[in-house]
Amino acid sequence: MDYLKPVILPGGTILPGNLFLAPTAGYSDGPFRSICRTWGADLCYTEMVSTEALWRGNSKTHNLLKREDNEPEYAIQLFGSDYDSVYKSLPYLTQHNPLLLDINAGCPVPKIIKSGAGSWLMKDPRKLMDIIKTIKDHTDIPLTIKLRLGWDANSINYLKIAQEAQELGIQAVGLHARTKEMAYRGKADWNHIKHLKENLDIPVFGSGDLFTSEDVIRMLTQTKCDGVLIARGAFGNPFIFSQIKGTIDKLNAKTIIDTALKHLDLSIQYYGDQAFKEIRKHFSAYLKGIPNSNDLRRKLMTAQTKDQYKHLLNSIL
Ligand SMILES: Cc1cc2nc3c(=O)[nH]c(=O)nc-3n(C[C@H](O)[C@H](O)[C@H](O)COP(=O)(O)O)c2cc1C
Repeated sequence: MDYLKPVILPGGTILPGNLFLAPTAGYSDGPFRSICRTWGADLCYTEMVSTEALWRGNSKTHNLLKREDNEPEYAIQLFGSDYDSVYKSLPYLTQHNPLLLDINAGCPVPKIIKSGAGSWLMKDPRKLMDIIKTIKDHTDIPLTIKLRLGWDANSINYLKIAQEAQELGIQAVGLHARTKEMAYRGKADWNHIKHLKENLDIPVFGSGDLFTSEDVIRMLTQTKCDGVLIARGAFGNPFIFSQIKGTIDKLNAKTIIDTALKHLDLSIQYYGDQAFKEIRKHFSAYLKGIPNSNDLRRKLMTAQTKDQYKHLLNSIL
């Protein structure tokens, strides 16, 4: 298992391991990060947070930065479209003392692109470099960027951008090995992760199609990337981190249900009544790991109280 190791960033910051929960809007909130830490994630990224919304004082955005009790460290991902909004948001980001700050330069969602953020920054690398310089000039917190391959198959530019960003002092690059045009379709091409690793001096984190522990081990060994950003593979299966580390035996329905209920408890603490809505997508994902649970999944979509959730889930056992 020599592929599992801490990551040392230029400047000396040590990430406690190399299995990360990727930034995932709508998923990597406090409760899910806490669950993933329990099951062996070495570091979890927040959902992307808008720099504009932060400095304007949007309370929902500020809440996204709340850290959980079992998160001695976490990574904050930000998205912004200009250095001014990023600059104004910095005091709010740094007060949480994240282990690293990550710039989202890969989000393909039209609303984000229209605002000039996310993968738009790969079309306009000057703007991305301005944002990097602004952050580097005003904080010592390690800075990383998360890229896609490029805008489309005809404009693959991740290596050029990563090398330029390295010159500006960023400390690692995450690469989701799809283009913006691919969104989440098609197969991620891990050859590009390998190529990036061979051509950069700073650590590289791979992303794309990490659905099982075998996928993760394959990516680490084939591409020699320094760490992995696990996204959809952790939805409903936070156990993937323990599976990679070999610290869990065969998964059974009781473990899945107990974890889902713990997730619900954390979500109630975090969201109050809103938790019952927030948790549905997670429960639907958890139940994929349990055979013949389609009927139950339908019923869970209408559950309104903790007791109803508990009763329905325990009916499986
Ligand atoms: C629901 C969802 C939300 C996502 N949100 C973010 C995000 O906020 N920031 C980001 O950099 N990537 C985001 N991603 C991309 C993931 O971090 C990851 O790069 C991508 O899903 C590829 O990994 P996978 O194929 O293993 O899922 C999101 C992906 C999904 C499916």
